[in-house]
Amino acid sequence: MDYIPGPHQRLFKIFEEIRRFVGERMNVHKVSLDPNCPRDFIDAFLIKIQEEQKNSDSVFTEESLVGSTINLFVAGTETSSTTLYFGLLVLLKFPEIQGNNTHVLSKWRTQGMFVVCLEGSSFNHDSKSYLGT
Ligand code: HEM
Repeated sequence: MDYIPGPHQRLFKIFEEIRRFVGERMNVHKVSLDPNCPRDFIDAFLIKIQEEQKNSDSVFTEESLVGSTINLFVAGTETSSTTLYFGLLVLLKFPEIQGNNTHVLSKWRTQGMFVVCLEGSSFNHDSKSYLGT
């Protein structure tokens, strides 16, 4: 692959930049960490590292914190974008879904939910269907 030109040549450099960025975020979290009040995943992980400080076999290390945080982004990005992609594709392929349910969509939006309701459409005659919350 070293000899084939293309965007993959920048992959490792970009990955290193992401790793450095997450490392920086971890350090920012460390400075303001309150073990009694974890704010997010990084805080919870840092607390776990502290708890397991004496265990030399612990998997909770700063390196695995950075790796796990990146994993969450990588795992979530393609899956969520593909789901949105296919959701929009279904709406394009079955435009009657949008037209038939304008009223129901508005109703559910006011409850703070992102809902695609297929009720009454040819796609689903039985009941409401939801995509996301
Ligand atoms: C519609 C969106 C998503 C779909 C369809 C989806 C699908 C999946 C599937 C099928 C697996 C199991 C893979 C396997 O075991 O072979 C998985 C695992 C995982 N997903 Fe998602 N995912 C979605 C969104 C997300 C998001 C938003 C995140 C992170 C914020 C995420 C994080 C993960 C992680 C960390 C795993 C590995 C879990 C483990 O093995 O312990 N996923 N996902």
